[in-house]
Amino acid sequence: MPFSRRTAWSRHENALTGALASARAGGAAVLDLTESNPTRAELFDARALVATLGHERGVRYEPEAFGHAEAREAVARYYGERGVAVPAGQVVLSASTSEAYGWLWKLLCDPGDEVIVLAPSYPLFSFLSDLEGVRLVTVPLSERRGFRLEIGELEAALTERTRAIVLVHPNNPTGTFVHPADRALLVAIAAERELALVVDEVFGDYAFDDALVARPPTFAGETRALTFVLSGLSKVVALPQVKLGWLVVAGPEALRAEALARLELVADTYLSVATPVQRALPEILAARRSVGDAIRARTRANLARLDAALAGRHEVHRLAMDAGWYAVLAAPGVPDEERFVEQLAAEQHVLVHPGYFFDFPVAGRYIVSLLTMETAFAEGIARLLAALAQSSRS
Ligand SMILES: Cc1ncc(COP(=O)(O)O)c(C=O)c1O
Repeated sequence: MPFSRRTAWSRHENALTGALASARAGGAAVLDLTESNPTRAELFDARALVATLGHERGVRYEPEAFGHAEAREAVARYYGERGVAVPAGQVVLSASTSEAYGWLWKLLCDPGDEVIVLAPSYPLFSFLSDLEGVRLVTVPLSERRGFRLEIGELEAALTERTRAIVLVHPNNPTGTFVHPADRALLVAIAAERELALVVDEVFGDYAFDDALVARPPTFAGETRALTFVLSGLSKVVALPQVKLGWLVVAGPEALRAEALARLELVADTYLSVATPVQRALPEILAARRSVGDAIRARTRANLARLDAALAGRHEVHRLAMDAGWYAVLAAPGVPDEERFVEQLAAEQHVLVHPGYFFDFPVAGRYIVSLLTMETAFAEGIARLLAALAQSSRS
């Protein structure tokens, strides 16, 4: 058959998906504690924001490789309001951060070149890399030290084919920001070895500490190493369906200029961002505070509920985090994480993600989404904790 090796992925349904499908086929109402689609979480009324796409300004097509000036300026203002000056000329619009990753791997890597990701992390990276013929090299973070970098592990993974290090900041699903000392090391390594830092800050607005909400740590002002900061509307205003992401090119002037010149041709080849969303971007981004407040209210209420339910339990605890939409539970006494989540779906009709989906270096980790509707979250957590207590005993 005339198909590429890069698309020869295994398409077998995993046992968890099977257990879930049978529970639903049997009429069970499954409590989905993995819900990360904000448009299903009843957070706010998005109709007025989506209606901005219907404005007549979207009638004319005047393509610009990096996006329309007013849209790039709106993104630059977003960083300015968070305390970092980003010139609009360093902003590149794409249809999503996933697309921006694809463009960056084309910009930085020849087939067979390597990018490093720090695990646990976002599962889509393996597909995004396979699609560009790029080899993904995983370096484990130290959970014991709060998901800090193990410098020895990173150095052992660097080869002459390494082109970039990916940082998810704050990380998905651990919710941890890159520690300032690790950041200094990573910037120094990238500058010295002429590597790029690719920093995914999609969850940057969702800190649990209000001081960090006002001024989240960002790499968008980085000057020492070539740095690409990724974000977009999927998380910033919880509108993944409108399809607009961006990347900010930062770092030393000469590298930045060369990166932008090459990216311009990449972006011009696709011209993938729809005109209506670019024209509406200043209005859409103006809603980011109220949307952010609604999401932070949900994640904080669910986190408080989770912590109350965990109080006094010895067999399970929550890992510390700074930000994001997820919480990670550690229950080391449950013998088989994979079997546990399958049984939980089949018998308790509760869906959680097992840590191995995200490459956790140790077993017995369970990920829940704090975006889940509050009553479903409370009931789902009660069933999850009861099942963990039961499995830890037996
Ligand atoms: C870390 C991370 N980056 C990027 C994305 C996806 O963003 P987009 O919809 O812009 O491709 C997600 C979505 O969950 C994510 O978790």
